[in-house]
Amino acid sequence: MTASIIPPQTSGHQIEKEWKEGDPFDWEQVHDRFTWKESGRVNMAHECIDRHVLEGKGDHIALHYFADEEEVIYTFSELQAEINRWGNVLKNHGVHKGDFVFVFLPKHPYCHIAMFAAIKIGAVVGPLFEAFMEEAVKDRINDCEGRFLITDDTFLDRVKREEIPSLEKVFTTNEKHGVNISITTEAKKNSDQLATEWVDLEDGLNIHYTSGSTGKPKGIIHAHRNMIQQYQTGRWVLDLHEDDVYWCTAHPGWVTGTVYGVFAPLLNGVTTVIHGGRFSAEAWYEVLEKARVTVWYSAPTAFRMLKAQPDHLHHNYDLSRIRHILSVGEPLNPEVIHWAYENWNLRIHDTWWMTETGAQLVANLPTRAIKPGSMGRPIPGIEVAVLDDHGHPLPAFETGHLAIKATWPSLMKEVWKNPEKFASYFPYGKEWYLAGDLAYVDEDGYVFFQGRSDDMINSSGERIGPFEVESKLLEHPAVRESGVIGKPDEIRGEIVKAFIVLNDGFENEAKLLQDIRAFVKANLAAHAAPREIEVISELPKTQISGKVLRRKLKEKDSVCS
Ligand code: WT7
Repeated sequence: MTASIIPPQTSGHQIEKEWKEGDPFDWEQVHDRFTWKESGRVNMAHECIDRHVLEGKGDHIALHYFADEEEVIYTFSELQAEINRWGNVLKNHGVHKGDFVFVFLPKHPYCHIAMFAAIKIGAVVGPLFEAFMEEAVKDRINDCEGRFLITDDTFLDRVKREEIPSLEKVFTTNEKHGVNISITTEAKKNSDQLATEWVDLEDGLNIHYTSGSTGKPKGIIHAHRNMIQQYQTGRWVLDLHEDDVYWCTAHPGWVTGTVYGVFAPLLNGVTTVIHGGRFSAEAWYEVLEKARVTVWYSAPTAFRMLKAQPDHLHHNYDLSRIRHILSVGEPLNPEVIHWAYENWNLRIHDTWWMTETGAQLVANLPTRAIKPGSMGRPIPGIEVAVLDDHGHPLPAFETGHLAIKATWPSLMKEVWKNPEKFASYFPYGKEWYLAGDLAYVDEDGYVFFQGRSDDMINSSGERIGPFEVESKLLEHPAVRESGVIGKPDEIRGEIVKAFIVLNDGFENEAKLLQDIRAFVKANLAAHAAPREIEVISELPKTQISGKVLRRKLKEKDSVCS
């Protein structure tokens, strides 16, 4: 065990100068970093953008966008001006404080601009993942009766307006047909000055929908106060220094893409790299080299795919600028950490958090030794415990429910229109927040992830509720019954596997199964479509309520394969 511990590599980290292991830490200390401490005027957009311009850093590069044939740079001043123009357009069209503004855009500076334009005028932004299909888009906007949407005109075929009755105004980038409001065209006619709508720390900032083990995704609402923890983890966990070039590979439709792709780096005033397009090992190494990335946040699936490239592909690229690498979303395999350490001469720092927690809680800090297989230790200001089924703390090395001592600055504000769901995270009272993860802690306080305590599936770091997939499968004419589980997979961690019972008159043929998969892909989302479908004659169910026994399906699956 001890042989595989990887010691801290370098020095000069932000945290080294400001905190020593064992020092007390109170989140209140971080309040001094914000202008609202003095002025009482709060807004995330102000702290991410305007503040840097006011402090004379307007010429510093805020965004550096890379796509196949395109490269675009925005300084903080340019970004501010564009956000102001877009914000004016939104205001002219009746967007007010507290309104939901959904943003359905590809990875592009426009996505940042749209989000901050909404936030600056006090709206609650709802970023949607760029690959969502019509039903995922519709369900989310309908759930909070959204009136405003900013999208790209190439995405419009996935926005079924007639099925989203609350939707009043659709703003598009590059609009050619004139049916909607072209925000890019109107922005040009608007002023680059815009007064910030001052809000309360407790006011809504963003909403992200996340899967649970039952029902449709739930809307998790976060407040402006999140900036306290997002700034601080950006500084101490991501180790962002002013001259860093930082790349987070997640799309803002996922919480990592919003918190660590948009807010945390800009709160820390560093340059954010944005890369359009899908994963390709060559393209990613090229971005790392060309953009001279120094800090890089990605996910285990991506690291596994890079590791799987033949002929040491990384040798063709200059990765010497990279100083710090982080990972999140799913278990990070020890062999991936060792591979990166040997091949890139860098440690990968695992971090753990959830949509609901709003920022990192457990992490491998740059100053601490890494034990491959562990997600790290609670960060300063966070206390964790492992609880038994009655809510009592367990000793080291015993697996139980991973719990966090409430509360911390970035904990969700509410679950939209669902106080029961919010309460369900606190089954043993207000003291402990339960993640739904199983874990144990070792003698040094390192946390080892052991799985979920529910049926949630984690494929490539994306959280998928089996119930959603089962419900979608049932809408296919051939499917009478369905049960969905996560099946272990080398690259993706887990894949979605569906067991189905066919309706009379349908044959178990490859073509039909392909069609069923395509149906889920087209109507729900590509990442939720089952990669494997097995036809069975009967589904195991509980006798009383008739609920699908996914546990039995899992057992069956591991016996068969
Ligand atoms: C669930 C939360 C906000 C991060 C992206 C995912 C799993 C998260 C790790 C990790 C093993 C992890 C947990 C958690 N998870 N990080 N480092 N190692 N599992 O956010 O979609 O809200 O999912 O992702 O099961 O509960 P999310």
